[in-house]
Order: sequence, then C-alpha cells, then structure tokens
Amino acid sequence: MTIPNKPADTSAQLADLIRNRWSPRIFDPTHLLSAEQIQSLGEAARWAPSSSNQQPWHVVFLTQGSKLFQEISEKGLTGFNQAWAPSCSLYAVMLARQTEKGKARDQAGTYFDLGLASMQMVMQAEAMGLKSHFMGGIVPLEIEKTLNVKDHWVVCVIAIGKQASLEAASEDLIARETAERTRLPSESVYSVDKPLS
Ligand SMILES: Cc1cc2nc3c(=O)[nH]c(=O)nc-3n(C[C@H](O)[C@H](O)[C@H](O)COP(=O)(O)O)c2cc1C
Repeated sequence: MTIPNKPADTSAQLADLIRNRWSPRIFDPTHLLSAEQIQSLGEAARWAPSSSNQQPWHVVFLTQGSKLFQEISEKGLTGFNQAWAPSCSLYAVMLARQTEKGKARDQAGTYFDLGLASMQMVMQAEAMGLKSHFMGGIVPLEIEKTLNVKDHWVVCVIAIGKQASLEAASEDLIARETAERTRLPSESVYSVDKPLS
C-alpha cells in the first residue's frame, strides 16, 4: 500500500507541520469525520486573525454522503476536480462576506482575511492527521444556488479527508499524485535588507 509523502525540499528549517503539508488528490471515501473533528476545523477558522477583527467569512461544511455534498460534487466542481474531489470526507465551502461599499480594496482585504482563516483551518486539519486540497475550479453560481448563499462571495472549496493509497487510482491520478512539488526560487519570493530592483 503506497501513500505518498511529499515533504517540501526546503532551503531552511521549517516546522514539520508546514514542511509536510501538501495537496493530495487521492482520499479514502469511506472515511468519515466526527462532529468533534468538524467542530475543531470550524474553530480553527473562527480563531484566525482578521483586519479590525471583522472575521468576514463563513464556512459551510458538507459531509461525505450527504445530499448537499452530492449536489456540489455533481454541479459545483469543474474539470479534473470532478474526478477526484468527491472521494474526500468533507468539503469546506469558503465564503467571503460582501462589504457594503464593495470597493476593490475592501474586497481584496476580505479575501486576504478569508485566506488566513482558510490556511489556519488547513493547518488544523494537518495537525489532526488529515489532508486538504484547495479548489478554485468551482462553479460559484451553482454553489450559491445549492447552498442559498446571500451577501457572500463563494471563493473556493477545500476538500479535506484521509489520504488513501495509490493502488486503486487511475494512471492520470497517480501521475499527478507522484509529481514533484516545485516552487519559485527563494530570491523571487523573499529578500532581506534590500529594496526591490
Ligand atoms: C486558491 C487555490 C485554488 C486552487 N485550485 C485548485 C483546483 O481547482 N484544483 C486543483 O487540483 N488544485 C488546486 N489548487 C492546489 C494548488 O495547485 C496547489 O496548492 C499547488 O500546486 C501547490 O501544491 P501543494 O499544495 O501540494 O504544495 C488550488 C490552490 C489554491 C491555494
């Protein structure tokens, strides 16, 4: 049974949780999360920092096997996401609260805050032995309709679950699951004590 680990090939020391997080696509569809586990994920999002402590987000969790999980699997995902995501245990539908002013700067700030809540939730999932995979390849209008979303932007869906082995997966899926993880070079991501050129 092969369950890949893909720790980041880093150029400096990193906390294990960060080093070992990655985004698999092969999940065990029989694995269900307990109500307590889901609550822990919700609390992780709830306790994220945000600008002026506005907490401009809402997370809708959909559990494997539920009617709404099924509907989002069928109509709310695009492309290859439709092939793998329905095997996960939980969808976290990440919503950003629309601001009254609706100015670009407000929207950017709201999305930034939602990103922090999302990542904090993903790291909590990692600490619980689960894996997560963000999906921007979604159909926001369908998700809005299915979940009766009002006054929020549907930003992304996060598939969360227990990693499963490669053996039963399609060739296409195995190829993606075992592909090397890459990043831009360090110098294009951060610099120290010098202005940008
Ligand atoms: C906002 C966002 C949207 C993403 N959308 C998708 C997606 O629709 N489908 C997919 O397979 N991966 C998606 N990804 C996953 C990225 O491709 C992945 O995080 C990136 O390649 C880095 O790989 P790693 O998470 O394993 O380090 C998304 C990631 C983020 C943060």
